Amino acid sequence: MSLLSFRTRLMVWADWDEVAQLIHQSLNVWYEKNRGFKLVSGSWETMRVFPRVYESLDPNCCVLVEETNSKRIAGSCFFHPRPRHVSLGILNTHPDFFGHGVASLLLRYVIDLAEHQNKPLRLVSGATNVDSFSLYNKAGFVPACFYQDMIFSVPVNGLTTECPHKTLIRNAAESDIPAIVRLELELTGIEREQDYRYFLKNEDGIWHVSVLFGVSGQLDGFIVSVNDPGSNMLGPGVVRTEEQGIALIRFELDKHRGCSPVWLVPSRCRTLVNAMYELGAKNCDLHISQVRGTEFSQTGIVFPTFMPETG
Ligand SMILES: CC(C)(COP(=O)(O)OP(=O)(O)OC[C@H]1O[C@@H](n2cnc3c(N)ncnc32)[C@H](O)[C@@H]1OP(=O)(O)O)[C@@H](O)C(=O)NCCC(=O)NCCS
Repeated sequence: MSLLSFRTRLMVWADWDEVAQLIHQSLNVWYEKNRGFKLVSGSWETMRVFPRVYESLDPNCCVLVEETNSKRIAGSCFFHPRPRHVSLGILNTHPDFFGHGVASLLLRYVIDLAEHQNKPLRLVSGATNVDSFSLYNKAGFVPACFYQDMIFSVPVNGLTTECPHKTLIRNAAESDIPAIVRLELELTGIEREQDYRYFLKNEDGIWHVSVLFGVSGQLDGFIVSVNDPGSNMLGPGVVRTEEQGIALIRFELDKHRGCSPVWLVPSRCRTLVNAMYELGAKNCDLHISQVRGTEFSQTGIVFPTFMPETG
């Protein structure tokens, strides 16, 4: 019989380093045991990106499970309430506490919060991690869209981008935010203006946003990217057509010369996937977007990300 006892509480500033260490150990121990490699090549300090960015975006939105006798943090989960949904962010159990119901406690907390706010709960989970799939599946999540994570080493002298007929791609400005918010709402049914204000303010200098305009000058797509020692990814983004998606991804990759960013491509988008192979991108993982509490409805092509997981 387990002598461990747990309670949930919210993260405070003094917990940041313990949470960063927990995320680092949880990911590396799980991946090494199940897949034979460590997921995070950098030091645990690189994982400070999670408390740092998420406390700026969503203060007091990280739930912890604490072991009551030792006061050790056994698990952590960031969550992101938005006007029309709640998003479940990175969720980790410390390897010393795997299999003791810690993840289920964290998940219960966020499910209760979403139900209380009467909003659907959304997440993107690993498709090659049966532990995490089972956790969410038992709790009622329904898979919606299948993604392949792709990685590419961007040449130091960059990439050229051919725009689809009569479209324009450029760096985004603050004045683009209303159109970005409207497009995401139209194509995906979610709203997160605060995120786009945060990216474009770019106080920590790690964000970039590009926008794509269609034939009649209307916004048809956008994509964000992050370049931090703890995360180098493209997304979030949304676009109307696969051709526009190819152009937008190439344009954004060019902002990461000499780096190897990762981005998620919807596997159903064959033209887009083929173009990524032609570029030289390789698959490095698989993910599934999931929702609990409503039907998943999206008409656009969506590029989710793990930094930040607010969609
Ligand atoms: C995945 C992870 C969070 C699970 O944490 P945990 O604290 O060991 O999980 P729990 O003990 O709460 O168990 C989770 C649930 O899944 C169930 N489960 C696990 N494997 C299962 C399987 N193959 N089939 C059915 N159910 C299964 C457990 O029985 C439990 O359900 P219950 O609460 O109804 O008993 C943990 O392994 C981890 O942190 N991994 C590395 C990081 C990661 O993968 N994070 C999640 C990705 S977003």
